[in-house]
Amino acid sequence: MTGQDRIQALAEHGVEIHAFPESWTALAADVLHGLSSTPKTLPPKWFYDARGSELFDEICDLPEYYPTRTEAALLADVGARIAAEVPAAEVIELGSGSSTKTPLLLDPLRDAGVLRRYVPVDVSAAAIQGAIPALTARYPGVEIDARICDFTTDLCDLPAPTGAPRIVAFLGSTIGNLQPVEVQAFLAQVRPLLGPHDALLLGTDLVKDVAVLEPAYDDAAGVTAAFNRNVLAVINRELQADFVLDAFDHDAAWNPVLERIEIRLRSVCDQVVRIRALGLEVTFQAGESILTEISRKFRRGGIERAYAQAGLGLRSWFQDPSAWYALSLASIRD
Ligand code: SAH
Ligand code: AVI
Repeated sequence: MTGQDRIQALAEHGVEIHAFPESWTALAADVLHGLSSTPKTLPPKWFYDARGSELFDEICDLPEYYPTRTEAALLADVGARIAAEVPAAEVIELGSGSSTKTPLLLDPLRDAGVLRRYVPVDVSAAAIQGAIPALTARYPGVEIDARICDFTTDLCDLPAPTGAPRIVAFLGSTIGNLQPVEVQAFLAQVRPLLGPHDALLLGTDLVKDVAVLEPAYDDAAGVTAAFNRNVLAVINRELQADFVLDAFDHDAAWNPVLERIEIRLRSVCDQVVRIRALGLEVTFQAGESILTEISRKFRRGGIERAYAQAGLGLRSWFQDPSAWYALSLASIRD
C-alpha cells in the first residue's frame, strides 16, 4: 500500500487528514547528504515505514526495552493529576505512532468531560492508519484530526491555540533522538502552539546504569537489529539501492560523555553499494559504520535549561520510583 493509498483509506474512515506522507525528495536529500558525509549518518525518521513502525511496536514489548512500560506505568499513576492541572479540550500528540499509551492521558480528560479534539501527528502514515480505528471507537464524539507530517519542520501548520486549554504531548522520549540543537529548534516551534493555559507534556528517559541501557538497544531476539537494518530496506525500495542487509551488523553503545546510546550499522566487509535513483556509489570499508540514531538520556537540570532557553518554564515533574523515566509539564513563561 502506498502512502497515498493510506491517506485515502483514512479519509474513507471519516478522519480528517492534513499534509502529505513520506516525502521522496526529502529521503533522497537526506541519503545523499548522510552517506556522502564522514562519518556516514542517516536521520532516524526513515526507520518508520509500515514495517519499521511494526518493528518499533515489537521493541516496545521486549523485556529489555524498559522505556515504554516505565512511561506507561508512570502515566497511569499521574494521568489524572495531569488532567486536573491542565483540563485540556485538545491534545496534540507529536510522534504519536500507534497511540498505545495515549488513552492514559485521554481517558481522564474524557472522564472529566473536557476532551473535544485529539490531533495525532506522525511522519508514518501506516502508524496513524493503524491507530485510528481504536481511537474513534474509544472516543465517540471526540474529533480526531490526524496530521501526517514532520514534527521537526511542519509544526507551523498545526492550529494556533484557540483559548481552550491544550496539551501538546511528546511521549516515548522521542526527544532523545534529536541532537541538542535540534531540541532547541523543536521547542522553539512548540512554544507558539501554547497559550497561557496550555502545557507541553514531555516524556524523557533518564540517565541510568549502562547495564540497563545497552541491552535495551541490543535485545537478545534481534528485533532492534531488524529495526535498525530496516532503514536500508527503505532506501533499497524507495531509491533503487542494492544494500545487502546482512552485510551490516547492528551496534548499540553507550557514550558516557554525551550521555546517549549511539546506534550504528557497521559494514562487515569492504563493499560498494549502488543507489541508482541518486546515481551514487557508496564505498564502505570493513568496520566502517553509519550512525543511524542517537537516543539521549536526560537529567532534570538539562531539561529545565532546555525549557528556559526556549522561553518555557517547568511547572511539574513526575518520575517513576526507580528514577528511570520522567514526565514533565512545561508552560510559556510570562
Ligand atoms: N509516541 C509513541 C511512538 C514513539 S516511536 C510511543 O511513545 O510509543 C517515534 C515515533 O515518532 C514514530 O511513530 C515515528 O514515525 C515518529 N517520528 C519520528 N521522527 C519523526 C518526525 N521527524 N516527524 C514526525 N514523526 C516522527
Ligand atoms: C522512538 N525512540 C524514542 C526510540 C528510542 O528509544 O530512542 C527508538 C528506538 N531505537 C531503538 N530502539 C528504540
